[in-house]
Amino acid sequence: MIRTIAVLTSGGDAPGMNAAIRAVVRTALTKGLRVFGVQDGYLGLFKGEMQELKRGSVSEKLGQGGTFLGTARLEEFADVEVQKVALRNLKIYGVDALVAIGGDGTYRGALALSKLGLPVVTIPGTIDNDIGGTDYTIGFDTALNTIIEAADKLRDTSNSHRRVSIIEVMGRHCGDIAVWTSIACGAEVCITEETGYDLEAVLANIREAAKHKRHAIVVVAENIVDIEELAKEITKKTPFEARATVLGHVQRGGSPTVRDRVLASEMGVKAVEALLAGETAHCVASVNNRIITMPIEEALQKSTREDTLRKYEVFKMLW
Ligand code: F6P
Repeated sequence: MIRTIAVLTSGGDAPGMNAAIRAVVRTALTKGLRVFGVQDGYLGLFKGEMQELKRGSVSEKLGQGGTFLGTARLEEFADVEVQKVALRNLKIYGVDALVAIGGDGTYRGALALSKLGLPVVTIPGTIDNDIGGTDYTIGFDTALNTIIEAADKLRDTSNSHRRVSIIEVMGRHCGDIAVWTSIACGAEVCITEETGYDLEAVLANIREAAKHKRHAIVVVAENIVDIEELAKEITKKTPFEARATVLGHVQRGGSPTVRDRVLASEMGVKAVEALLAGETAHCVASVNNRIITMPIEEALQKSTREDTLRKYEVFKMLW
């Protein structure tokens, strides 16, 4: 029987994580459970750093960016001995089950704990939208809105100067941030791992744009191409001068959008309900506007590639 749960955030932070923690805490308290908040993700589990959360502990958190519990990336958590220490610490605090909020690394950690006997449910919290089986991850929408604000500003200045703006966005190995940004800001070129990179095609698109406009936008997902080098090529081989901008961690900050707040709230409620219904090694997902759960293993096996490429077709149609 579950009487006490713990909640943690792990991996890269994402706007809306606080809203998800709040929903987990409030739902658990409403259901008569005790809740502990673990500091800094799996690192806090390993060190035994957690504290009890009450209703007031999550007041004023809904609209705050980041995660007030803190987060970390802990490669060592793949080691079963480290996992056993975490389990012992949870036992000391009388914790019967865990809600873990984060990306695929968080999912793998949770799965490992569930295999050692701990009931665990995960919530997708990452700006990358790279978790299989869910249409959206918490933080994706806010990150996109932050990026679009920056892209619109870059358009103003590149239009004034007859320039190309190359904008590098995050996403790890998933091109969703780049493709959605490209559609939303009317970019001329979108380069992602899924779509591939062809310099000649990029130059041709920009030369074509130069025939009828004063600027062009190139959106590039991280880890594909050196955008300073690309800027040099564009400046040399097209009528435009180019400037490169890496948006970086600004994409991860800020107050969550309404969409992320609501998604996080719905997912937080569902996670606690799932644990109380006896589910374990499951993750919460948003599918066709419904919040469901599915085995973590199934989500980890699903690829987001098809969805990304489907959106890319829309981008190409509108160019
Ligand atoms: O997973 C979120 C993310 O922001 C990725 O888009 C990016 O590749 C990575 O985290 C950056 O990680 P860090 O903040 O550890 O540099």
